[in-house]
Amino acid sequence: MMPNKILSDHRRPFGDFETVDFVDEHEVAGLRSRLDFDVPLDLHWTWEYGSEVEELRNLYERGKKGQWNAETDIDWSLPFPRDEWFMPKEGALLLPSILSLMGVDDATCRAAAFDEFAHLISQLLHGEQAAMQLCGQLTNACPTMDAKFYAGSQVIDEVRHVEVLSKFLQRKMGTIYPIDPTLKILLDLLLEAPTWKMKTLGMQTLFEGMAVGIFDTIAKVTSNPLLKDVIRRVQIDESRHAAFGILSMRQVVKDSSPEELQEMEDFAFSILEALNANQQLDMLRLLGPKYGLDPDSVVQSTLALPEWPALNSEIFMHTVVPNLKRLNLITERTEDAYRRIGVIYDVGCDSKYELPIAS
Ligand SMILES: [Fe+2]
Ligand SMILES: [Fe+2]
Repeated sequence: MMPNKILSDHRRPFGDFETVDFVDEHEVAGLRSRLDFDVPLDLHWTWEYGSEVEELRNLYERGKKGQWNAETDIDWSLPFPRDEWFMPKEGALLLPSILSLMGVDDATCRAAAFDEFAHLISQLLHGEQAAMQLCGQLTNACPTMDAKFYAGSQVIDEVRHVEVLSKFLQRKMGTIYPIDPTLKILLDLLLEAPTWKMKTLGMQTLFEGMAVGIFDTIAKVTSNPLLKDVIRRVQIDESRHAAFGILSMRQVVKDSSPEELQEMEDFAFSILEALNANQQLDMLRLLGPKYGLDPDSVVQSTLALPEWPALNSEIFMHTVVPNLKRLNLITERTEDAYRRIGVIYDVGCDSKYELPIAS
């Protein structure tokens, strides 16, 4: 039996597909103003100061060598001009792709690309803040000193990501968009997850895996040198984090009962399902009308594209799905369901991206 869907009261059918969507602005404002809440946290001491998991300690060493300074190592004098294409006009971002197909002029397509990208980086920034808070929780809750070392060192990485993305947005794009309601709900769920195992799965495997896919894709397609440098640096850190997720989850999986594994598999599915179910409606509600686009019609037409499953699954198939497969957290119990919602497409689940697990 599949788990209950997250946000079941925000579901709408689009043909065979079910979206998650927020239409009530007051509700969205309420979600964004939920700033203070209690989270369960099991603090755990350990007297074993030596290394028990060599690969984790190696990753920590690698992290120390990989430190960089977001203020002084980035050449902030490089421009990010509003009137130049920083990505391909079609195929990379949703709004310019659609507007271009509709024959809208180049300047408008470029403006839409700039807005949509600022929105995307803003969401990544809010995700970085969640990662920073969650790594603080993990430093307390992880059972081994190796994991505490790594989680503690990851806190400073995430601080740097918050710093670099917020500076990029403020200095080069001129705005920070508020958090999308769907993302806020999902990040709160991870921050409120009851055990360090669930927190590690949620943040380190699911969200870090998604982040690696998104950052790697941006770095590959952008032609702007400043953006490329910022994203490459963040992405190298993120792939280390996703590797930490895999290494610690491997142990967790080994130590878990079949019931616990099933619970983890369901948790992973329900988070990715809800994320996918939004189909960028949160962004479209915010920016679509500015460019004469009706959010529902955009979703309807993208879902109808014959290549939709291939396009839609790309980010998921980059890292998060292969990693869940490796951990046996996608089994025949959930694989078809992932296929039905366009998260898994085709037969291959092999990551094209190597995580720095080996020392
Ligand atoms: Fe990060
Ligand atoms: Fe990270």
